[in-house]
Amino acid sequence: MSTARAATHDALAAELAWWTAANDSFDAAVAAASLPAPGDLPVDPRELRNALGRFATGVCVVTTRTATGQAAGLTVNSFSSVSLDPPLVAWCLGRKAPSLRAFAQAEHFAVHVMAQDQHALAMHFARPAEDKFAAVREAFEPGLGEVPVLKDALARFECRKASTVEGGDHLIFIGRVERFAYADRAPLLFHAGRFLDRGDAAA
Ligand SMILES: Cc1cc2nc3c(=O)[nH]c(=O)nc-3n(C[C@H](O)[C@H](O)[C@H](O)COP(=O)(O)O)c2cc1C
Repeated sequence: MSTARAATHDALAAELAWWTAANDSFDAAVAAASLPAPGDLPVDPRELRNALGRFATGVCVVTTRTATGQAAGLTVNSFSSVSLDPPLVAWCLGRKAPSLRAFAQAEHFAVHVMAQDQHALAMHFARPAEDKFAAVREAFEPGLGEVPVLKDALARFECRKASTVEGGDHLIFIGRVERFAYADRAPLLFHAGRFLDRGDAAA
C-alpha cells in the first residue's frame, strides 16, 4: 500500500472506531433514559398519586357524540389550556375507561368547567353507567357536532379533536376550541382526593 493510501485507510479506520464508540455510548444513553416497562415503576404508585393530588385543580365534565350517535361523558381534572393561537386545550383519558372508544371515534368533544354547586353532576359523570345522560337529559342541549353540552357550566369549550397523543396508561386528547362561553360563579375544586365544594380546605 502506498503511504498516501495507508494514511487514508488509517483515517477511515479511526473514523469508523469513533462512530462505533459514539453509537455504543448513544445506545447506552438511550437505554438509560428509556421509560420503565409498565409494572416496573421505580416509585410507589399510591404515593405518587397522593403527591400528584396535592396539585389543586378545577373539575370538568367532558362529553362527546360519535357519528353513529353514541354519547359519552366523564368527569376529569386533567384538563389544561395548551395554546391561545391556535386555541388548543388538552385532557387525559384512562386507556381502560369504557368511554375510550367513543372519544377515540368522535370528531368533537366539549369540556365543561364545573361550578361549586355542580358537585352532584360531577360525581354522576365519575361513575360508569350504560347511559349517563338518561337521568340528567334536561341539563343538556345539542352543541357542535351534536355533542351534548351542559346548559349552565361555569365555562364551556366546544372543540374539534386536533390530535391524540400517547401518554402511558392514558391518552391525551388535544382539541381546537371552536366555540366557548363562561360565567362568573364559584368553581368546583378538587384537592387531595376530595371535592372542596363547601368552601372547606383539606387539612
Ligand atoms: C375529580 C375526578 C377527576 C377525574 N379525572 C379523570 C381524568 O382526568 N381522566 C380519566 O380518565 N378519569 C378521571 N376520573 C375518573 C372518571 O371520571 C371515571 O373513571 C369515569 O367512570 C370514566 O367514565 P366512563 O366509565 O364512562 O369511561 C376522575 C374522577 C374524578 C372524581
